[in-house]
Amino acid sequence: MKLKGNTIEKMVVPEPGKTILQHAKDHEIDWQHMCKRGTCARCRCQVLEGAEFLEEPTEAEHKRLDPEEFDEGFRLGCQALVKTSGIISARNKTYF
Ligand code: FES
Repeated sequence: MKLKGNTIEKMVVPEPGKTILQHAKDHEIDWQHMCKRGTCARCRCQVLEGAEFLEEPTEAEHKRLDPEEFDEGFRLGCQALVKTSGIISARNKTYF
């Protein structure tokens, strides 16, 4: 775990079949969330590395996020499932 300014960075071993939010919760990482079904977007995150190790965006993500957000690497942490092991870097970036 590293502290960079006001940001805490933590590395965890990715577990296929779990969402980014589940990884955060399992490892006590402070990651905003509320609904866990893809509507509130509090869990929104920017995937900085390793998007190819995630499943394709869900229907809920397509409804909630704009195409430009996908272009910039945004996903919903409660929806983005890890597909295979690999280095994935994601940062919680809610709207609020
Ligand atoms: S927790 Fe609400 S959209 Fe993910």
